[in-house]
Amino acid sequence: MNRFVLTAIVAAMLHTSAWSAEAPSPDNIKVVAGGYAKQLRSGLMEQMSKNGPEGGIAACSVKAAQLGAETSTKTGWSVKRVSSKARNPLAMPDAYEQEVLNGFEKEIASGKEDASRYEVVREGGIRYARFMKAVRVEAMCLTCHGGSEVPPNVEQKLSEQYPHDTARGYKVGDLRGALSIKVKLD
Ligand code: HEC
Repeated sequence: MNRFVLTAIVAAMLHTSAWSAEAPSPDNIKVVAGGYAKQLRSGLMEQMSKNGPEGGIAACSVKAAQLGAETSTKTGWSVKRVSSKARNPLAMPDAYEQEVLNGFEKEIASGKEDASRYEVVREGGIRYARFMKAVRVEAMCLTCHGGSEVPPNVEQKLSEQYPHDTARGYKVGDLRGALSIKVKLD
């Protein structure tokens, strides 16, 4: 973890605990989300260039889970990735996330580059701050999330490890899913 990200996360933590039941400021949550996304992307690129798609598979799974868990431990927030076409069944969206993903689809279809939403909601009588940021498909993602671009050796690994995989057939620019952060306030 580089020093900037660490500092940002620690700063966000201090801020959160000082506020206790208050919602974290949008800026705090964006810094944490940005750090997570950046580290994940650079981990993926590093593994792809060092160890090819096989290394990338671990980067997009093990590393993502590790980073999510680390970020959750540091902040006390739930930090995960979700998708309407999930590869990992644990990445299936809840009702709130599905609705926001539908909104992101529309925003992107109407030409918006980036989509995110932050709000405080009440679920089962408890208040939560919820933040979601769209994750879009880039050329390098197609090796494992594309259609005919997926090479046979990757195809084989994916079908072994993810027999119920639906995270396929994407094109560059598509909405792949979102980073989702949930903070319990009450
Ligand atoms: C080398 C293969 C590989 C590449 C390249 C890759 N992914 Fe993945 N991706 C995976 C695997 C494997 C999973 C399942 C991870 C798990 O087990 O949680 C996954 C899961 C995800 C998820 C979580 C939701 C789900 O479907 O489970 C998102 C979001 C995601 N990838 C986005 C991307 C994006 C964006 C890119 C390009 C920047 C990318 N991936 C490139 C292999 C890859």
